[in-house]
Amino acid sequence: MRFDPAPRLRGSLVAPPDKSISHRAALIAAMATEPVRITGYLDAADTRSTLEAVRRLGASVEAGPGALVVRGVGLQGARPTGGPIDVGNAGTLMRLLPGWLAAQEGRSWTLDGDASIRRRPVDRIAEPLARMGARIEATDGRFPPFAVHGTRLTAIHYELPVASAQVKSCVLLAGLSADGATTVTEPAPSRDHTERMLAAAGVAVQRHGRHVTVQGGEALALDRVHVPGDPSSAAFWLAAAAIVPGAELTVRNTGTNWTRTGFIRILERMGGIVEGELEAADPPGVPAGEPVADLVARHAPLRGTVVEPEEVPLAIDELPLVGLLGCFAEGETVVTGAQELRVKESDRIAAVVGALNALGGDAEATEDGFVVRGTGGLRGGAIDSGGDHRIAMLGAIAGLASREGVEVRAMEAAAVSYPGFADDLRTLTGR
Ligand code: S3P
Repeated sequence: MRFDPAPRLRGSLVAPPDKSISHRAALIAAMATEPVRITGYLDAADTRSTLEAVRRLGASVEAGPGALVVRGVGLQGARPTGGPIDVGNAGTLMRLLPGWLAAQEGRSWTLDGDASIRRRPVDRIAEPLARMGARIEATDGRFPPFAVHGTRLTAIHYELPVASAQVKSCVLLAGLSADGATTVTEPAPSRDHTERMLAAAGVAVQRHGRHVTVQGGEALALDRVHVPGDPSSAAFWLAAAAIVPGAELTVRNTGTNWTRTGFIRILERMGGIVEGELEAADPPGVPAGEPVADLVARHAPLRGTVVEPEEVPLAIDELPLVGLLGCFAEGETVVTGAQELRVKESDRIAAVVGALNALGGDAEATEDGFVVRGTGGLRGGAIDSGGDHRIAMLGAIAGLASREGVEVRAMEAAAVSYPGFADDLRTLTGR
Protein backbone atom coordinates (compact mmCIF):
# COMPACT_ATOMS: atom_id res chain seq x y z
CA MET A 1 0.00 0.00 0.00
CA ARG A 2 1.28 3.49 -0.88
CA PHE A 3 1.20 6.44 1.49
CA ASP A 4 1.81 9.77 -0.21
CA PRO A 5 2.89 13.00 1.48
CA ALA A 6 -0.17 14.62 3.10
CA PRO A 7 -0.70 18.23 2.03
CA ARG A 8 -3.32 18.42 4.75
CA LEU A 9 -3.83 16.41 7.93
CA ARG A 10 -6.72 17.65 10.03
CA GLY A 11 -9.77 16.30 11.76
CA SER A 12 -10.99 14.13 14.52
CA LEU A 13 -11.35 10.39 15.11
CA VAL A 14 -12.12 7.95 17.89
CA ALA A 15 -9.17 5.86 19.05
CA PRO A 16 -9.80 2.14 18.40
CA PRO A 17 -10.42 0.03 21.53
CA ASP A 18 -7.48 -0.93 23.69
CA LYS A 19 -5.88 -4.26 22.78
CA SER A 20 -4.29 -4.92 26.19
CA ILE A 21 -7.51 -4.22 28.07
CA SER A 22 -9.61 -6.25 25.60
CA HIS A 23 -7.44 -9.36 26.11
CA ARG A 24 -7.76 -8.97 29.88
CA ALA A 25 -11.51 -8.40 29.74
CA ALA A 26 -12.09 -11.64 27.81
CA LEU A 27 -9.75 -13.70 29.99
CA ILE A 28 -10.95 -12.37 33.35
CA ALA A 29 -14.59 -12.75 32.24
CA ALA A 30 -13.85 -16.38 31.29
CA MET A 31 -12.42 -16.93 34.78
CA ALA A 32 -15.58 -15.56 36.42
CA THR A 33 -18.81 -17.50 36.93
CA GLU A 34 -21.37 -14.71 36.45
CA PRO A 35 -21.89 -13.21 32.97
CA VAL A 36 -19.73 -10.20 32.14
CA ARG A 37 -20.88 -7.54 29.67
CA ILE A 38 -17.96 -6.08 27.76
CA THR A 39 -18.49 -2.86 25.81
CA GLY A 40 -15.96 -1.49 23.34
CA TYR A 41 -14.14 -4.81 22.86
CA LEU A 42 -11.49 -4.53 20.12
CA ASP A 43 -12.46 -6.40 16.97
CA ALA A 44 -8.99 -7.22 15.60
CA ALA A 45 -6.99 -10.35 14.83
CA ASP A 46 -5.22 -10.53 18.23
CA THR A 47 -8.30 -10.09 20.35
CA ARG A 48 -10.30 -12.50 18.18
CA SER A 49 -7.70 -15.12 19.04
CA THR A 50 -8.49 -14.52 22.72
CA LEU A 51 -12.25 -14.89 22.22
CA GLU A 52 -11.69 -18.12 20.30
CA ALA A 53 -9.37 -19.42 23.06
CA VAL A 54 -11.83 -18.75 25.88
CA ARG A 55 -14.65 -20.34 23.85
CA ARG A 56 -12.62 -23.48 23.42
CA LEU A 57 -11.95 -23.51 27.16
CA GLY A 58 -15.67 -23.62 27.83
CA ALA A 59 -16.76 -19.97 28.12
CA SER A 60 -19.61 -18.75 25.95
CA VAL A 61 -19.22 -15.49 24.03
CA GLU A 62 -22.31 -13.83 22.59
CA ALA A 63 -22.22 -10.67 20.52
CA GLY A 64 -25.16 -8.40 21.35
CA PRO A 65 -25.82 -4.80 20.24
CA GLY A 66 -22.69 -2.84 21.13
CA ALA A 67 -21.51 -5.41 23.65
CA LEU A 68 -20.14 -8.91 24.14
CA VAL A 69 -21.51 -11.08 26.88
CA VAL A 70 -19.03 -13.65 28.20
CA ARG A 71 -20.25 -16.44 30.45
CA GLY A 72 -17.20 -17.84 32.17
CA VAL A 73 -16.40 -21.21 33.69
CA GLY A 74 -14.79 -20.03 36.94
CA LEU A 75 -11.26 -20.03 38.31
CA GLN A 76 -10.93 -23.81 38.18
CA GLY A 77 -13.34 -24.62 35.36
CA ALA A 78 -11.26 -24.46 32.14
CA ARG A 79 -12.15 -27.45 29.92
CA PRO A 80 -9.86 -29.65 27.85
CA THR A 81 -9.62 -28.49 24.23
CA GLY A 82 -8.53 -31.73 22.58
CA GLY A 83 -5.93 -29.96 20.43
CA PRO A 84 -3.57 -26.97 20.64
CA ILE A 85 -4.92 -23.51 21.46
CA ASP A 86 -3.93 -21.17 18.62
CA VAL A 87 -2.85 -17.77 19.97
CA GLY A 88 -2.19 -16.46 16.45
CA ASN A 89 0.12 -13.43 16.73
CA ALA A 90 -0.96 -12.50 20.27
CA GLY A 91 1.91 -12.43 22.76
CA THR A 92 -0.36 -11.11 25.50
CA LEU A 93 -2.74 -14.07 25.14
CA MET A 94 0.19 -16.47 25.05
CA ARG A 95 1.65 -15.11 28.31
CA LEU A 96 -1.51 -14.36 30.32
CA LEU A 97 -3.61 -17.45 29.59
CA PRO A 98 -1.11 -19.91 31.15
CA GLY A 99 -1.55 -18.07 34.47
CA TRP A 100 -5.14 -19.32 34.49
CA LEU A 101 -4.47 -22.75 32.99
CA ALA A 102 -1.67 -23.50 35.46
CA ALA A 103 -4.29 -23.64 38.23
CA GLN A 104 -6.41 -26.41 36.61
CA GLU A 105 -5.52 -29.48 38.62
CA GLY A 106 -4.72 -32.56 36.53
CA ARG A 107 -5.47 -30.91 33.14
CA SER A 108 -3.06 -29.94 30.36
CA TRP A 109 -3.12 -27.78 27.22
CA THR A 110 -0.75 -26.95 24.39
CA LEU A 111 -0.41 -23.37 23.13
CA ASP A 112 0.93 -22.51 19.70
CA GLY A 113 0.78 -19.59 17.28
CA ASP A 114 2.13 -18.09 14.07
CA ALA A 115 5.76 -17.92 12.90
CA SER A 116 6.40 -14.70 14.87
CA ILE A 117 4.95 -16.18 18.08
CA ARG A 118 7.22 -19.21 17.72
CA ARG A 119 10.23 -16.91 18.06
CA ARG A 120 8.98 -15.30 21.30
CA PRO A 121 10.24 -16.62 24.64
CA VAL A 122 7.91 -18.18 27.21
CA ASP A 123 10.57 -19.16 29.77
CA ARG A 124 9.80 -15.84 31.49
CA ILE A 125 6.36 -17.20 32.50
CA ALA A 126 7.46 -20.84 32.81
CA GLU A 127 9.88 -19.93 35.58
CA PRO A 128 7.41 -18.34 38.05
CA LEU A 129 4.65 -20.84 37.20
CA ALA A 130 7.05 -23.71 37.91
CA ARG A 131 7.84 -22.10 41.25
CA MET A 132 4.11 -22.14 41.98
CA GLY A 133 4.04 -25.87 41.21
CA ALA A 134 2.88 -26.03 37.58
CA ARG A 135 4.89 -27.62 34.80
CA ILE A 136 5.55 -25.95 31.46
CA GLU A 137 7.22 -27.88 28.66
CA ALA A 138 8.46 -25.52 25.98
CA THR A 139 10.19 -26.15 22.67
CA ASP A 140 13.97 -25.92 23.25
CA GLY A 141 13.06 -25.01 26.84
CA ARG A 142 11.91 -21.51 25.82
CA PHE A 143 9.57 -21.28 22.84
CA PRO A 144 6.08 -22.21 21.59
CA PRO A 145 4.55 -24.65 21.03
CA PHE A 146 4.48 -25.34 24.76
CA ALA A 147 2.41 -27.44 27.15
CA VAL A 148 0.93 -26.20 30.43
CA HIS A 149 0.26 -28.90 33.04
CA GLY A 150 -2.06 -27.52 35.70
CA THR A 151 -1.89 -28.24 39.40
CA ARG A 152 -2.88 -26.91 42.82
CA LEU A 153 -0.73 -23.77 43.03
CA THR A 154 1.43 -22.45 45.84
CA ALA A 155 1.58 -18.69 46.46
CA ILE A 156 4.96 -17.07 45.81
CA HIS A 157 6.77 -13.77 46.02
CA TYR A 158 8.19 -13.22 42.56
CA GLU A 159 10.75 -10.58 41.61
CA LEU A 160 10.43 -9.85 37.91
CA PRO A 161 13.84 -9.88 36.22
CA VAL A 162 12.49 -7.42 33.58
CA ALA A 163 9.58 -4.99 33.86
CA SER A 164 6.92 -6.92 31.92
CA ALA A 165 3.19 -6.41 32.39
CA GLN A 166 2.57 -9.73 30.65
CA VAL A 167 4.65 -11.71 33.14
CA LYS A 168 3.30 -9.72 36.10
CA SER A 169 -0.26 -10.39 34.91
CA CYS A 170 0.40 -14.10 34.38
CA VAL A 171 1.62 -14.49 37.97
CA LEU A 172 -1.26 -12.41 39.40
CA LEU A 173 -3.87 -14.47 37.50
CA ALA A 174 -2.25 -17.68 38.80
CA GLY A 175 -2.16 -16.12 42.27
CA LEU A 176 -5.97 -15.89 42.28
CA SER A 177 -6.04 -19.69 42.65
CA ALA A 178 -2.99 -20.13 44.91
CA ASP A 179 -3.08 -20.91 48.62
CA GLY A 180 -2.26 -17.53 50.19
CA ALA A 181 -0.88 -14.17 49.10
CA THR A 182 1.05 -13.90 45.83
CA THR A 183 3.27 -10.84 45.44
CA VAL A 184 5.00 -9.62 42.30
CA THR A 185 7.80 -7.06 42.58
CA GLU A 186 8.58 -5.05 39.47
CA PRO A 187 11.95 -3.40 38.78
CA ALA A 188 10.04 -0.43 37.27
CA PRO A 189 6.32 0.29 36.79
CA SER A 190 4.61 -1.37 33.82
CA ARG A 191 1.00 -1.16 32.60
CA ASP A 192 -1.40 -1.99 35.42
CA HIS A 193 -4.62 -2.92 33.57
CA THR A 194 -4.77 -6.37 35.16
CA GLU A 195 -4.55 -4.92 38.67
CA ARG A 196 -7.28 -2.37 37.89
CA MET A 197 -9.62 -4.94 36.35
CA LEU A 198 -9.13 -7.33 39.27
CA ALA A 199 -9.85 -4.47 41.69
CA ALA A 200 -13.03 -3.75 39.69
CA ALA A 201 -13.90 -7.46 40.06
CA GLY A 202 -13.77 -7.14 43.83
CA VAL A 203 -10.34 -8.71 44.39
CA ALA A 204 -8.37 -7.07 47.22
CA VAL A 205 -5.36 -6.11 45.08
CA GLN A 206 -2.77 -4.20 47.00
CA ARG A 207 0.08 -2.10 45.70
CA HIS A 208 2.92 -0.83 47.87
CA GLY A 209 5.55 0.87 45.75
CA ARG A 210 6.82 -1.75 43.29
CA HIS A 211 5.02 -4.66 45.05
CA VAL A 212 1.60 -5.92 43.95
CA THR A 213 -0.25 -8.56 46.00
CA VAL A 214 -3.36 -10.66 45.38
CA GLN A 215 -4.96 -13.20 47.71
CA GLY A 216 -5.78 -16.66 46.45
CA GLY A 217 -9.30 -18.05 46.58
CA GLU A 218 -11.22 -14.85 45.92
CA ALA A 219 -14.10 -15.17 43.45
CA LEU A 220 -14.37 -12.66 40.62
CA ALA A 221 -17.45 -10.44 40.53
CA LEU A 222 -17.33 -8.33 37.41
CA ASP A 223 -20.66 -7.19 35.98
CA ARG A 224 -19.38 -5.12 33.15
CA VAL A 225 -16.16 -3.83 31.65
CA HIS A 226 -15.79 -0.90 29.31
CA VAL A 227 -12.73 -0.87 27.06
CA PRO A 228 -11.35 2.63 26.42
CA GLY A 229 -9.45 3.74 23.30
CA ASP A 230 -5.93 2.41 22.85
CA PRO A 231 -3.19 4.97 23.58
CA SER A 232 -0.76 2.85 21.54
CA SER A 233 -2.99 3.16 18.46
CA ALA A 234 -3.67 6.85 19.19
CA ALA A 235 0.11 7.37 19.30
CA PHE A 236 0.35 6.94 15.51
CA TRP A 237 -1.91 9.97 15.04
CA LEU A 238 -0.17 12.03 17.72
CA ALA A 239 3.13 11.34 15.96
CA ALA A 240 1.64 12.12 12.55
CA ALA A 241 0.30 15.46 13.80
CA ALA A 242 3.72 16.34 15.22
CA ILE A 243 5.62 15.80 11.94
CA VAL A 244 3.20 16.81 9.16
CA PRO A 245 3.38 20.60 8.64
CA GLY A 246 0.15 22.37 9.54
CA ALA A 247 -1.44 19.25 11.04
CA GLU A 248 -3.98 19.27 13.85
CA LEU A 249 -5.71 16.07 14.97
CA THR A 250 -8.13 15.21 17.76
CA VAL A 251 -8.07 11.62 19.00
CA ARG A 252 -11.18 11.12 21.09
CA ASN A 253 -11.75 8.63 23.90
CA THR A 254 -8.06 7.78 24.35
CA GLY A 255 -7.04 5.82 27.45
CA THR A 256 -4.79 8.00 29.62
CA ASN A 257 -3.75 5.49 32.29
CA TRP A 258 -0.35 6.91 33.33
CA THR A 259 1.33 3.53 32.77
CA ARG A 260 0.54 3.91 29.05
CA THR A 261 1.30 7.57 28.39
CA GLY A 262 5.09 7.54 28.50
CA PHE A 263 5.16 8.25 24.77
CA ILE A 264 3.18 11.47 25.21
CA ARG A 265 5.62 12.67 27.86
CA ILE A 266 8.54 11.90 25.53
CA LEU A 267 6.82 13.67 22.61
CA GLU A 268 6.18 16.76 24.76
CA ARG A 269 9.80 16.78 25.89
CA MET A 270 10.79 16.81 22.21
CA GLY A 271 8.68 19.94 21.74
CA GLY A 272 5.47 18.25 20.56
CA ILE A 273 2.09 19.76 21.44
CA VAL A 274 -0.55 17.47 22.96
CA GLU A 275 -3.55 18.93 24.80
CA GLY A 276 -5.84 16.91 27.04
CA GLU A 277 -5.81 15.71 30.59
CA LEU A 278 -3.52 12.76 31.35
CA GLU A 279 -3.81 10.74 34.53
CA ALA A 280 -1.27 11.90 37.13
CA ALA A 281 1.62 9.49 37.70
CA ASP A 282 1.36 6.89 40.44
CA PRO A 283 -2.11 7.49 41.90
CA PRO A 284 -2.47 5.98 45.39
CA GLY A 285 -3.77 2.40 45.70
CA VAL A 286 -5.14 0.50 42.71
CA PRO A 287 -7.80 2.47 40.79
CA ALA A 288 -10.71 0.23 39.76
CA GLY A 289 -11.10 1.89 36.37
CA GLU A 290 -9.38 3.39 33.35
CA PRO A 291 -9.26 7.16 32.67
CA VAL A 292 -9.92 8.55 29.16
CA ALA A 293 -9.58 11.92 27.45
CA ASP A 294 -9.87 13.59 24.06
CA LEU A 295 -6.35 14.50 22.96
CA VAL A 296 -5.48 17.26 20.49
CA ALA A 297 -2.06 17.17 18.81
CA ARG A 298 -0.46 19.79 16.56
CA HIS A 299 2.54 20.14 14.33
CA ALA A 300 5.59 21.57 16.12
CA PRO A 301 9.35 21.79 15.63
CA LEU A 302 10.99 18.89 17.50
CA ARG A 303 14.35 18.44 19.23
CA GLY A 304 16.14 15.19 20.05
CA THR A 305 15.93 13.56 23.46
CA VAL A 306 17.29 10.67 25.49
CA VAL A 307 14.78 8.01 26.58
CA GLU A 308 16.01 6.55 29.86
CA PRO A 309 15.59 2.86 30.84
CA GLU A 310 12.91 3.56 33.49
CA GLU A 311 10.72 5.28 30.87
CA VAL A 312 10.86 2.26 28.56
CA PRO A 313 8.07 0.06 30.03
CA LEU A 314 5.68 3.04 29.99
CA ALA A 315 6.26 3.62 26.26
CA ILE A 316 7.38 0.18 25.12
CA ASP A 317 5.12 -0.23 22.08
CA GLU A 318 5.56 3.38 20.99
CA LEU A 319 9.38 3.41 20.91
CA PRO A 320 9.38 2.79 17.13
CA LEU A 321 7.49 6.10 16.82
CA VAL A 322 10.11 7.84 18.98
CA GLY A 323 12.61 6.74 16.32
CA LEU A 324 10.42 8.22 13.59
CA LEU A 325 10.08 11.52 15.47
CA GLY A 326 13.87 11.53 15.81
CA CYS A 327 14.24 11.78 12.01
CA PHE A 328 12.29 15.06 12.10
CA ALA A 329 13.94 16.44 15.26
CA GLU A 330 16.98 18.62 15.60
CA GLY A 331 19.95 16.72 17.03
CA GLU A 332 20.10 13.16 18.30
CA THR A 333 17.34 10.96 19.71
CA VAL A 334 18.60 8.07 21.82
CA VAL A 335 16.65 5.13 23.24
CA THR A 336 18.42 3.09 25.94
CA GLY A 337 17.51 0.13 28.15
CA ALA A 338 15.05 -1.24 25.58
CA GLN A 339 16.51 -4.68 24.83
CA GLU A 340 12.95 -6.04 25.27
CA LEU A 341 12.22 -4.60 21.81
CA ARG A 342 14.25 -7.47 20.37
CA VAL A 343 11.57 -10.00 21.42
CA LYS A 344 8.39 -8.21 20.30
CA GLU A 345 6.33 -9.13 17.20
CA SER A 346 9.64 -8.65 15.37
CA ASP A 347 13.12 -7.61 16.51
CA ARG A 348 11.90 -4.03 16.71
CA ILE A 349 15.36 -2.54 17.14
CA ALA A 350 16.47 -4.05 13.82
CA ALA A 351 13.08 -3.38 12.19
CA VAL A 352 12.91 0.33 13.16
CA VAL A 353 16.51 1.08 12.25
CA GLY A 354 16.13 -0.83 8.97
CA ALA A 355 12.90 0.98 8.07
CA LEU A 356 14.11 4.48 8.92
CA ASN A 357 17.36 4.01 6.98
CA ALA A 358 15.47 2.58 3.98
CA LEU A 359 13.43 5.79 3.93
CA GLY A 360 16.49 8.06 3.95
CA GLY A 361 16.93 8.45 7.72
CA ASP A 362 20.12 8.16 9.74
CA ALA A 363 19.55 5.50 12.43
CA GLU A 364 21.87 3.10 14.18
CA ALA A 365 21.07 0.08 16.35
CA THR A 366 22.68 -0.35 19.75
CA GLU A 367 22.48 -3.44 21.93
CA ASP A 368 19.58 -2.05 23.96
CA GLY A 369 18.02 0.57 21.73
CA PHE A 370 18.90 2.93 18.90
CA VAL A 371 20.30 6.33 18.01
CA VAL A 372 18.60 8.48 15.36
CA ARG A 373 20.21 11.64 13.99
CA GLY A 374 17.69 14.21 12.80
CA THR A 375 18.17 15.07 9.12
CA GLY A 376 15.23 17.41 8.67
CA GLY A 377 12.77 14.74 7.56
CA LEU A 378 12.58 11.60 5.42
CA ARG A 379 12.88 11.11 1.68
CA GLY A 380 10.57 8.09 1.45
CA GLY A 381 10.88 4.77 -0.35
CA ALA A 382 9.68 1.24 0.38
CA ILE A 383 9.64 -0.94 3.48
CA ASP A 384 8.28 -4.34 4.44
CA SER A 385 6.34 -4.70 7.70
CA GLY A 386 7.76 -8.19 8.17
CA GLY A 387 4.31 -9.03 9.55
CA ASP A 388 4.69 -6.59 12.47
CA HIS A 389 1.58 -4.41 12.81
CA ARG A 390 3.36 -1.50 14.46
CA ILE A 391 6.09 -1.39 11.80
CA ALA A 392 3.42 -1.37 9.06
CA MET A 393 1.65 1.64 10.61
CA LEU A 394 4.99 3.39 11.29
CA GLY A 395 5.71 3.13 7.54
CA ALA A 396 2.33 4.66 6.71
CA ILE A 397 2.83 7.63 9.06
CA ALA A 398 6.36 8.12 7.71
CA GLY A 399 4.83 8.29 4.22
CA LEU A 400 2.49 11.15 5.19
CA ALA A 401 5.41 13.24 6.42
CA SER A 402 7.95 12.17 3.76
CA ARG A 403 9.02 14.07 0.64
CA GLU A 404 8.32 11.27 -1.87
CA GLY A 405 5.87 8.89 -0.14
CA VAL A 406 6.30 5.40 1.27
CA GLU A 407 5.23 2.04 -0.03
CA VAL A 408 4.52 -0.48 2.74
CA ARG A 409 4.59 -4.14 1.83
CA ALA A 410 2.50 -6.49 4.00
CA MET A 411 0.41 -3.55 5.27
CA GLU A 412 -2.33 -6.06 6.18
CA ALA A 413 -0.37 -6.74 9.40
CA ALA A 414 -2.06 -3.59 10.82
CA ALA A 415 -5.22 -5.70 11.31
CA VAL A 416 -3.56 -7.34 14.33
CA SER A 417 -4.39 -4.28 16.45
CA TYR A 418 -6.02 -1.65 14.21
CA PRO A 419 -8.10 -3.00 11.30
CA GLY A 420 -9.56 0.46 10.55
CA PHE A 421 -6.17 2.17 10.30
CA ALA A 422 -6.11 2.77 6.52
CA ASP A 423 -9.73 4.01 6.53
CA ASP A 424 -9.02 6.43 9.38
CA LEU A 425 -5.97 7.66 7.50
CA ARG A 426 -8.04 8.34 4.37
CA THR A 427 -10.57 10.30 6.43
CA LEU A 428 -7.89 12.47 8.01
CA THR A 429 -6.02 13.19 4.78
CA GLY A 430 -9.29 13.79 2.87
CA ARG A 431 -8.23 11.35 0.09
C1 S3P B 1 1.46 -5.92 27.00
C2 S3P B 1 2.65 -5.69 27.60
C3 S3P B 1 3.88 -5.36 26.88
C4 S3P B 1 3.57 -4.83 25.47
C5 S3P B 1 2.58 -5.69 24.77
C6 S3P B 1 1.28 -5.76 25.54
C7 S3P B 1 0.31 -6.30 27.82
O1 S3P B 1 4.69 -6.51 26.79
O2 S3P B 1 4.73 -4.74 24.72
O3 S3P B 1 2.31 -5.17 23.48
O4 S3P B 1 -0.84 -6.26 27.34
O5 S3P B 1 0.53 -6.65 28.99
P1 S3P B 1 5.68 -6.93 27.99
O6 S3P B 1 4.86 -7.04 29.20
O7 S3P B 1 6.24 -8.27 27.61
O8 S3P B 1 6.72 -5.87 28.02
